[in-house]
Amino acid sequence: MSNYHIKHLEEYYQVYRKSVRNPEGFWEEIAEEHFLWRKKWDNVLSWDFSKPEVKWFEGAQLNITENCIDRHLATRGEKTAILFEPNDPKEAAQHITYNELHKRVNKFANVLKAQGINKGDRVCIYLPMIPELAVSVLACARIGAIHSVVFAGFSSTALSTRINDSDCKMVLTSDGSYRGAKTIDLKGIVDEALESCPGVKNVLVAKRINSDINMVSGRDQWLQPLLDNASEHCEAEIMNAEDPLFILYTSGSTGKPKGMVHTTAGYMVYTAYTFKNVFQYRENDVYWCTADIGWITGHSYIVYGPLVNGATSVMFEGVPSYPDFGRFWDIIQKHKVNQFYTAPTAIRALAKQGAELVEKYDLSSLKVLGSVGEPINEEAWHWYNDNVGKRNSPIVDTWWQTETGGIMISPIPYSTPTKPTYATLPFIGIQPALMDENGDELKGNQVDGRLCIKFPWPSMARTIWGNHQRYKETYFSAYENKYFTGDGALRDEVGYYRITGRVDDVIIVSGHNLGTAPIEDAVNEHPAVAESAIVGFPHDVKGSALYGYVTLKDTGESRNHDNLRKEINQIITESIGPIAKLDKIQFTSGLPKTRSGKIMRRILRKIAQKDTGNLGDTSTLLNPEVVQEIMDNVL
Ligand code: WTA
Repeated sequence: MSNYHIKHLEEYYQVYRKSVRNPEGFWEEIAEEHFLWRKKWDNVLSWDFSKPEVKWFEGAQLNITENCIDRHLATRGEKTAILFEPNDPKEAAQHITYNELHKRVNKFANVLKAQGINKGDRVCIYLPMIPELAVSVLACARIGAIHSVVFAGFSSTALSTRINDSDCKMVLTSDGSYRGAKTIDLKGIVDEALESCPGVKNVLVAKRINSDINMVSGRDQWLQPLLDNASEHCEAEIMNAEDPLFILYTSGSTGKPKGMVHTTAGYMVYTAYTFKNVFQYRENDVYWCTADIGWITGHSYIVYGPLVNGATSVMFEGVPSYPDFGRFWDIIQKHKVNQFYTAPTAIRALAKQGAELVEKYDLSSLKVLGSVGEPINEEAWHWYNDNVGKRNSPIVDTWWQTETGGIMISPIPYSTPTKPTYATLPFIGIQPALMDENGDELKGNQVDGRLCIKFPWPSMARTIWGNHQRYKETYFSAYENKYFTGDGALRDEVGYYRITGRVDDVIIVSGHNLGTAPIEDAVNEHPAVAESAIVGFPHDVKGSALYGYVTLKDTGESRNHDNLRKEINQIITESIGPIAKLDKIQFTSGLPKTRSGKIMRRILRKIAQKDTGNLGDTSTLLNPEVVQEIMDNVL
């Protein structure tokens, strides 16, 4: 028997060593014993980071939805698979059993087929957190269509860029969405986006808010009547191990968003195995991850990882502040949640409301608390541990990325002693390395460097959709024969890792990765703007917030700065989404530049962070005088 469920620290070390000494043998055993295959693999792993090319379980055939649903029907048919908690607490929660999920996914899959979607076609899913989102993801996987879920908080421009980049044939959306006390006109956003997406032939619309929307004839159809008429049986498409399962976009430091491509077998094996161990999931537990399925956390740890394990996964439509800031605690109490997985930004926002709000609720069902998306600061860690976990539920600070597909560094609760702000130990099979500026690996403990991974793991992204060269340059060129994460990290005296943050121009705002370049492009679209530079600065709830330095064109007229700020943020909202709005905008007569014309972001970052003790050498700048001006007027 393989060690599928690790239960103490010695066992972790023993299994970890095995997974590193003989990765192929280790993963083969896991794959062999815990999944449903139509055909087993010919070869467990082949890899070459210089190309880069990685293949896991080559030759195997499977369908991930048979693993997520069909194989549970005999033993867990009436168990809740997805527990849907609506935005409005007065609306009843829905317990979607595995039997029910099977029917709904098959019907949806038949609808997709009837609309001309074939294996390998891309389908864009732009839906709020309603059951149709999880069902449509699985329906795509059922027929081998590649889903590309776009977070429903992105603007129409961001949506159309993503639709066109992967050439989606169809868009799935809803008549609108609820977000706390607000409603959002999702269909209107889709209509706008599709003005520049000639490849989209069909739009299927789920009903959620019963709003009166415009349906474009010949293109748009209501989903429900199609589902009503569809058969409950849909044979699962047999997929090869390395067939793409989905595309998910993530921001890069430059250029357009990167469509990370995840494939089928390795992703399934790794997300299932990590889910089981990192959350110590036991049959009959109720697990809740508060992420949106529009992000990787939702893909791997609301949908695939939990369902492959036959778990009950809570899906929450709303926001932590509605109808009040006790909502999360109310849901934990109501559904007796055992594992709760959220982001530091949510913890900080809730901590601000005081511990009294938490004490009103019975949280005694909790066994494991998770954190993901950005470094968790010490204060938030303790607040979470003391007030939510009552010092009884270990915190798993899980470090990973859209690109890694699954959790990479994390404690195993009840085995690994936790340490505030530390993601602690590499997960089974993960071989991290810290690199110095010269490109050498830092050996031993108590070192600080750039975080790389030196051996493939099953759920790593295989490429960037349509741009393998960019995949190679972004992740495999900084250090020879290693995957570069873009993060800095340190390793303490016992080998625990602490992630110190991004070392590139990606800024994590409220847990969302934002590249500075696309935001600058948006700002520069304003007719009065000559140039701009965006940096991050610390924010007590969002973790980081955005600071924009903007120079205006010299038109001779004087402009009202407050109006300009509003207009600039409006453009950002339209081209990316409200999450990318700037918190501070400083107008300046120039930006500090090197003699070759490069903006010195390092200096701008320090000024925005009010860390001007040591700005470094500014004498080599083309325009050193501007630094003083910027410092004098800092916001
Ligand atoms: C950051 C989210 C510190 C990191 C799963 C990474 C973290 C980026 C942690 C990926 C953590 C994620 N501690 N930093 N526990 N988890 N990050 O692609 O900078 O949305 O590179 O994936 O978030 O964000 P992404």
